[in-house]
Amino acid sequence: SQEELWARSDQYHNSFLIPADEALEYARKNSNANGLPEIAVSTAQGKFLNLLARSIGAKRILEVGTLGGFSTIWLARALPADGELLTCELSEKHAEVARANIAHAGLANKVQIARGPAADTLKKLRPAQPYDFVFIDADKPNNLTYFIEAKRLVKKGGVIIVDNVARKGLVPDETLNDANLEGVRKLLRYLKDDKEVDATTISTVGEKGYDGFLYAVRL
Ligand code: DHB
Ligand code: MG
Repeated sequence: SQEELWARSDQYHNSFLIPADEALEYARKNSNANGLPEIAVSTAQGKFLNLLARSIGAKRILEVGTLGGFSTIWLARALPADGELLTCELSEKHAEVARANIAHAGLANKVQIARGPAADTLKKLRPAQPYDFVFIDADKPNNLTYFIEAKRLVKKGGVIIVDNVARKGLVPDETLNDANLEGVRKLLRYLKDDKEVDATTISTVGEKGYDGFLYAVRL
């Protein structure tokens, strides 16, 4: 079946170039054991985010949507010794699991979790220095709110990535008015005429189906 094909493909690509990693395996198992939804980025996608952050020499990273901290760990590992990552999480339970996973990965000194509605956290942020990189992977209906704040908080030339912009290929079907699909469409409609970023979407496929990243550079 298609599911088996893509599960095998993910198993292959998540392990062929990327060595087994105790801290990431712990994070995934501990998240599952605590009943968190299995919707974190794949290992290969996590590594992609890590390489991207390193490519731009990111020293300050902002994440919206921590879940169990799987992408957080990949991103925090891209930071130099004096680098910092702030990650926003609504759920106290998710934040607690993520805190343990991040500590287990030896990254507690670089990562701060802001617990509460991300829109409130972001709107109050007045960082002394702008962020280099923002990863948005939270509740999809608020994508545009998060993106507008990310634009304010990221430096010129900085990168904003938004997860889950293909959603099984259903975004173009305007007859489906699901709130998550609408959250993606609303962001894309806004970006069509936005002069403050240049952006593209790139589709991905794996065991969780067809999805994608939005990649935006702040002008
Ligand atoms: C969902 C959310 C995500 O961030 C993701 O990567 C996959 C699925 C969801 O809400 O279904
Ligand atoms: Mg996601």
